[in-house]
Amino acid sequence: MCIAVAIDGPAGAGKSSVAKAVGKQLGLMYVDTGALYRTVALAALKKGIDASSKAEVEILLKEISVEMDFSENGGQVVLLNGEDVSGLIRTQQVSMAASDISALPVVREYLLDLQRNIAKTKSVIMDGRDIGTVVLPNAQVKIFLTASPESRAERRYKELAEKGEKTTVKDVLREVIKRDYNDTNRKAAPLRPAEDSVLVDTTNMNFDESVEAVAKIIRERIS
Ligand code: DC
Repeated sequence: MCIAVAIDGPAGAGKSSVAKAVGKQLGLMYVDTGALYRTVALAALKKGIDASSKAEVEILLKEISVEMDFSENGGQVVLLNGEDVSGLIRTQQVSMAASDISALPVVREYLLDLQRNIAKTKSVIMDGRDIGTVVLPNAQVKIFLTASPESRAERRYKELAEKGEKTTVKDVLREVIKRDYNDTNRKAAPLRPAEDSVLVDTTNMNFDESVEAVAKIIRERIS
């Protein structure tokens, strides 16, 4: 039987790094669904399309192909029209466009089967915003991973600075708050904890503690 673990929560809560490490520890394939929304956003930016325009994005979706590929060692790449764009989707510009584009029901519908199909044949730990509520409502374990906006902005800033992106903690905090607002208040699949999810607040946890907290919950529920 395939096991599914859903990890949802706001931007910068550490979902991807924690889920990746937990996946390795417990033998679950890590799936970053945000990368799919980012790929659609990148396609819109490349074409100069307004990411919040339903009409323009609807046409765009008919013209592109989005795929996700996995390697044996747990790596994941996203392909836009067959081209690996995994590196190009990690900018602030793409983050903001992804937040806008993910509010469109037509985009969520477009990516739904792709996400569900991945979990059909493999045991996964899937991170996103609506995994426990919409994509995998029958997941055996659902975790809502969060942290204060300030600590999330601080972490995100460090990540971006390491990649050489020029920004400030203040700017990142402003974007974190705006993305939280967008993700939580959109009509289509808004960010909210599933009723049967376990809340993990990592504000006062370091990385190893966050990994252990999440791994412990999963071990308890699937043993
Ligand atoms: O997790 P992330 O920052 O890479 O996600 C980018 C955007 O995609 C984020 O603003 C919300 C959206 N998203 C979503 O709506 N549903 C998901 N399952 C994953 C991401």
